[in-house]
Amino acid sequence: MTTIHRKKLKELSDREEHRFMVQHPRSAALYKAAQNSLLGGVPMNWMKKWAGAFPVFVKSAKGAHFTCVDGRDYVDLCLGDTGAMTGHSPDEVVEAVAKRAREGLTLMLPTEDALYVGEDLKKRFGLPYWQFTLTATDANRFSIRIAREITQRPKILVFHYCYHGTVDETFAGLKDGVVGPRRGNIGPPVNPAMTTRVVEFNDLNALEDALKHHDVACILAEPAMTNVGIILPENGYWKQARELARRYGALFIADETHTICAGPGGCTAEWKLEPDMLVFGKAIGSGIPGAAYGCTEEVAQRIAARIHLEDCDVGGIGGTLAGNALSLAAIRATLEHVLTAKNFEKMIALAVRFNDGVSAEIKKYGLPWNVQRLGCRAEYTFCEKPPRNGGESAAASDFELERFLHLYALNRGVLLTPFHNMALMCPETTAADIDLHTRIFAEAAQELV
Ligand SMILES: Cc1ncc(COP(=O)(O)O)c(C=O)c1O
Repeated sequence: MTTIHRKKLKELSDREEHRFMVQHPRSAALYKAAQNSLLGGVPMNWMKKWAGAFPVFVKSAKGAHFTCVDGRDYVDLCLGDTGAMTGHSPDEVVEAVAKRAREGLTLMLPTEDALYVGEDLKKRFGLPYWQFTLTATDANRFSIRIAREITQRPKILVFHYCYHGTVDETFAGLKDGVVGPRRGNIGPPVNPAMTTRVVEFNDLNALEDALKHHDVACILAEPAMTNVGIILPENGYWKQARELARRYGALFIADETHTICAGPGGCTAEWKLEPDMLVFGKAIGSGIPGAAYGCTEEVAQRIAARIHLEDCDVGGIGGTLAGNALSLAAIRATLEHVLTAKNFEKMIALAVRFNDGVSAEIKKYGLPWNVQRLGCRAEYTFCEKPPRNGGESAAASDFELERFLHLYALNRGVLLTPFHNMALMCPETTAADIDLHTRIFAEAAQELV
């Protein structure tokens, strides 16, 4: 197996940093000017973490490509970290949004689009009842509240190195087997050990031990982990995990925000998961803020028994703009025209092409890396075998190497998802886009070894 020499990596990274600066003078100037009014010079703090001295400022985006203010074109394999898995600004959604924008944006009253969307989601995921929020974070937060309320239990259970948005309870991790705040947790309201149990993915014994306390309201989980590399469930894992949740009275909330990449009904439909609740955000409105959470008939009845009309506006579930007319118009058009079975077929075939291409180069250069795929999403990790859980995957992360590969790709016209090595396909991604990435990946590998 080939080892990466750190000195060589540093030299190559410095060269790429320089190239990035030369290629992006306008972005550099905007970033400098932004220091005067934006905290840290960016609209959101994590934008500072992109590879390169500053983030690339975008001029416009359409389909699988975008152009930066320096006039450079990029293949976008990040696609807004799934927010634009539909491709940027799909025509049907743009038309629906423009029409709705002329006819009223938000009213605190329902529009007919909500009914279409409810019926569509019901068919996709098999859950009969739906509610809407503006973000997947909120959909997760409200699902957790409901789970706590109807089970009358205080804790939730998540997997080590999960990510479900900025949900306080989920910023917990394991250190030497003990639950505590995850590294970098900013101003946690309480020690998350009070609210959360954490176990490793793919470990049924650990899951059962945690559930045996009978204080877990819900398991909040991605059916396959996607935020610390792609970690697939082992054969039979979910069948047994699901059974354990039932046995110990915990609800199972499937967060399909990313795993929707598996197909039109996410992993829930592909793997027949039968969750009690389900969350789907980001791509659901092609980038117009919106998210949905659904529940079973049984959960709906338990909600009805405990949540009363008089208090429903101040019960901690809400949001003035939640379920607004614009959001629902965008979601309807996205479900009707973009996240279709036909488009998924195309996107998944492209992800297979990505996987095959990258995998062949990894082999050719003898790199101790692997590439995993879930539907139209693929990702490489810096370890020989696909990790089984979050701990293993995090142990294989390599910040310097990752930044180098991202910057190398960016400098040659390909945007990867920041903070991990993820590539996502949209309906307008082409085989040529994928092959460009494979060529660049191969060049980087060649230079590294
Ligand atoms: C699995 C999963 N759920 C929920 C979220 C939260 O989405 P949002 O930031 O749009 O609220 C994310 C964000 O990355 C996610 O990866």
